[in-house]
Amino acid sequence: MVDKIKTGIPGLDDMMDGGLPKGSTTVISGPPGIGKSNLAMQYIYNGVAQYDDPGIYITVEDTVGDVENYAAGFGWNVREYEDAGKIAILGREIFEGTDMDLGMDFGILRDVIKETQASRMVLDSVTLFNYLFKEEASRRLHMLRFLEMMRKNNCTTIMTAELPESFPKLKYGSEHFLSDGLVIMFWSRYRATNERCIWVVKIRGTKIISDIRPLTITSGGVSVSPKEVPFTLLKREDAKG
Ligand SMILES: Nc1ncnc2c1ncn2[C@@H]1O[C@H](COP(=O)(O)OP(=O)(O)OP(=O)(O)O)[C@@H](O)[C@H]1O
Ligand SMILES: [Mg+2]
Repeated sequence: MVDKIKTGIPGLDDMMDGGLPKGSTTVISGPPGIGKSNLAMQYIYNGVAQYDDPGIYITVEDTVGDVENYAAGFGWNVREYEDAGKIAILGREIFEGTDMDLGMDFGILRDVIKETQASRMVLDSVTLFNYLFKEEASRRLHMLRFLEMMRKNNCTTIMTAELPESFPKLKYGSEHFLSDGLVIMFWSRYRATNERCIWVVKIRGTKIISDIRPLTITSGGVSVSPKEVPFTLLKREDAKG
């Protein structure tokens, strides 16, 4: 039985038999504004607040200040954990003037993991690999090396990824196939109502609940209703309101 790392996101761990397999990498894929970055930060924040797991949050598009502000919007004081050496945030600043180079062998990452002794990591988003490696073959190779490095370091990782097509017509990228886990977030619509939904597509070596569930974002963060069918996907005669 493989060790599990709890995301601490209400309702989500139950859909993956207790959590993410230790050392695995899971892609969280979805369209703009669905809540990928929020969920990813909540995973890192919960890691420290609930499980005493140090974490690293890497973002390609935002600055460290942006990330801290978004987290503060949910009442998560990540600054305090940064000061205590429990959370490290690498913002887009570190890529400026370096040609987006993390070191071809991810040397910088290895150093930060050692320094913080992180057991959780977020890469927001996987587009970093597109910037670093123009050729698809080289991108896949380096992604595999990255997954291998995270596994070796026992660092359980979440990578966010954009999803250009809307559910149910999905356009998969190589990261969806290479990663150990895949969770898709999408907007479901009925008439004028848009609803956030989540679907655990795969977690290798784990029994999953692959039914689609509703996801909400409130002032407390992201949560999943593990037993509810999304309102917009109910049979119309069952739908209330
Ligand atoms: N306190 C809050 N209450 C409810 N919803 C919130 C709150 N704070 C943020 N949100 C929602 O979170 C959404 C953004 O989520 P997030 O940044 O995680 O999306 P994303 O999937 O990462 O998008 P992108 O692909 O653009 O990066 C906002 O559009 C907003 O609706
Ligand atoms: Mg985002």
